[in-house]
Amino acid sequence: MAHTVPDISLNDGNTIPQLGFGVYQIGPKDTAEAVSRALEIGYRHIDTAEMYGNEAEVGEAIRACGLDRGEVFVTSKLNNGFHRPEDARKAFESTLSALKMDHIDLFLIHWPLPTRYDGDFVSTWKALEEFQRDGRARSIGVSNFQVPHLERLAAEADVVPAVNQIEVHPYLTNEQVRAYGDAHNILTEAWSPIAQGKVLDDPTIVDIAEQVGRTPAQVVLRWHVQRGDIVFPKSTTPKRIEENFRIFDFTLDDTAMERISGLDKGETGRTGPNPDVFDYIPA
Ligand SMILES: NC(=O)c1ccc[n+]([C@@H]2O[C@H](COP(=O)([O-])OP(=O)(O)OC[C@H]3O[C@@H](n4cnc5c(N)ncnc54)[C@H](OP(=O)(O)O)[C@@H]3O)[C@@H](O)[C@H]2O)c1
Repeated sequence: MAHTVPDISLNDGNTIPQLGFGVYQIGPKDTAEAVSRALEIGYRHIDTAEMYGNEAEVGEAIRACGLDRGEVFVTSKLNNGFHRPEDARKAFESTLSALKMDHIDLFLIHWPLPTRYDGDFVSTWKALEEFQRDGRARSIGVSNFQVPHLERLAAEADVVPAVNQIEVHPYLTNEQVRAYGDAHNILTEAWSPIAQGKVLDDPTIVDIAEQVGRTPAQVVLRWHVQRGDIVFPKSTTPKRIEENFRIFDFTLDDTAMERISGLDKGETGRTGPNPDVFDYIPA
């Protein structure tokens, strides 16, 4: 049982596997193979998005793997061009039809886009509340929401997001947003958990990896799960897909945990856009 992935409880009573497989930047041609490999190794949680252009192939791999639908936790996200409620409803239907599924486990607003749509992400969120009420989204959440965005939802909406999926890794520990989540029962999902590879050569990470006899990627992923965050590293390399799964049979001591957290560079550590100003809408 050494490699059993813990299930974590969400604030709506559902559970989510703490480790999943991310498919950002996997082209549609390679997606079914990568997801099949991940499912074979034991991953039971796949993180996709309409923006990634590979929902159909994720669905295909899940149908082909022989597992029951209920055994695989699937997340997708509302793309930036669809924040108006009527567009969100159509986009959600397209996501389900691309996946060929009658429900999704978790559906997220991908970005808050506070400078678009007159700053209104609340009516978008209320559309997601409808999807949860009608049973087609078992859980709903947000992504890239900053503290003021979460505070606004708390003031104006009925449902507290189950998760907030944000950039977190040793160079951007994102403590303030994580702390808000902790205090309000919103689980943090850490995207780009190994900073797309950028933290793996860091001397502190390499040193700890040597001490515990693991790879730098395993050490960083282990740091995330010991902090309680949900992670879904991406890889199209079979050996790495397997390596990233083997993180539940060792632990990091407090000193190692603190040394890794101490690598935080704040805003300069970001690899992706700042959600306060990000306003990209695909053509
Ligand atoms: N909500 C959002 O706005 C948002 C934004 C970004 C990402 N995400 C989600 O988070 C997931 C993960 O983030 P990410 O894909 O940006 O980056 P990531 O998982 O931090 O890193 C992926 C990169 O690291 C390499 N890699 C993976 N495992 C490795 C290992 N064991 N050793 C060495 N290199 C390794 C991969 O290379 P190979 O593939 O060549 O092996 C790939 O280049 C995404 O797939 C997506 O699901 C969400």
